[in-house]
Amino acid sequence: MSTYRIATIPGDGIGVDVTVEAVKAVDAVLPGIEWTEFDWSCEQYLRTGAMMPADGLEQLAAFDAILLGAVGFPGVPDHISLWGLLIPLRRAFGQYVNLRPVRLLPGTESALRDRTTEDLDILIVRENSEGEYSEIGGIHNLGRPEEFVLQESVFTRVGCERIIRYAFERARERHGRLCSATKSNGLIHSMPYWDSIFDRIATEYPDVQARQMHVDALAAEVVLHPDRLDVIVGSNLFGDILSDLAAAVTGGLGLAPSGNINPTGGAPSMFEAVHGSAPDIAGQGIANPVAQILAAAMMLEQLGEHDAATAIDRAVCEVLAEATIRTPDLGGTSTTTEFGTAIAERATELTGS
Ligand code: NAD
Ligand code: IPM
Ligand code: MN
Repeated sequence: MSTYRIATIPGDGIGVDVTVEAVKAVDAVLPGIEWTEFDWSCEQYLRTGAMMPADGLEQLAAFDAILLGAVGFPGVPDHISLWGLLIPLRRAFGQYVNLRPVRLLPGTESALRDRTTEDLDILIVRENSEGEYSEIGGIHNLGRPEEFVLQESVFTRVGCERIIRYAFERARERHGRLCSATKSNGLIHSMPYWDSIFDRIATEYPDVQARQMHVDALAAEVVLHPDRLDVIVGSNLFGDILSDLAAAVTGGLGLAPSGNINPTGGAPSMFEAVHGSAPDIAGQGIANPVAQILAAAMMLEQLGEHDAATAIDRAVCEVLAEATIRTPDLGGTSTTTEFGTAIAERATELTGS
């Protein structure tokens, strides 16, 4: 069996609680992993003045993968915490794909109650390194009546081409349908550019059914007709918003995993839940660990450990379907630890069988 070196950054708030459970699930199906924990967080920022050490990126570069909890907590502004840790990692390690699978898991109460697990199984491919997330901009005429702020978007040709092509490849492996999120009616420079690249690349994939929708209409489609959707490709901001929306219609933010993928393999990929540090429930031991556990399963899949990943996935589905152990966000009374332990124990049984 190969030994992997995996870095964990539990981070802030419930990121710490759910990451412990994800490590437990992985150890249950694949013993022998060498874990190294980094306590980079808002707490560390308040102590040292930095979210991570100056050589933080070099420290992480040699790991096989990174499992990240959540970054950001009241007391440190998000532009310091996120832009001092999460976003630099995504960019430095070439993780230009943010994969966000959204499934209606067994035994969960969806906002779409009459739907079955087959009706909602969407892969969101989010551009993860440019677009609307840009440091270009600033405030002008400060304090004067004509004060205004500019926030630029940057869509490079390479950046658009590589994410759109990646999404076509994934669609080809799944059900052969790809929908691009646009907003060319409002964002009249960036989105027509994105659309023209989408149209051009679509000609390379005649076997994939390609269409585009304005992101507002697409948001409605996720709720009204999720069965028509297979893979969605969107810019950084659109992918972010659609993934919280999609997670919510499946039953909550505690269920949706995410992978920041470097498709070339030249640097570690990083796995995390879609949700954040949830300050409103932090420290209470009631966070749902499923999203982070499924993120760890995505990590194992990317490392080539298909059987171990499948064991975790099945364990999550079985424990959810039985509906006896679950956290309060799913209507239960269990703690994070009880839920995580039940999943890890089931995963061990499934691995042994
Ligand atoms: P959030 O995702 O942390 O929480 C939104 C709501 O969902 C809250 O009511 C929370 O209690 C609930 N929730 C989230 N995860 C849950 C879970 N596992 N179990 C049960 N309930 C859960 O979003 P927010 O409040 O906007 O952000 C809080 C902080 O986290 C901010 O600093 C934000 O910037 C940061 N954030 C970080 C990441 C990341 O590191 N990847 C992602 C999103 C937000
Ligand atoms: C996410 C988060 C981050 C993002 C924030 C915290 C910067 O919402 O991972 O979805 O928007 O990328
Ligand atoms: Mn988000």
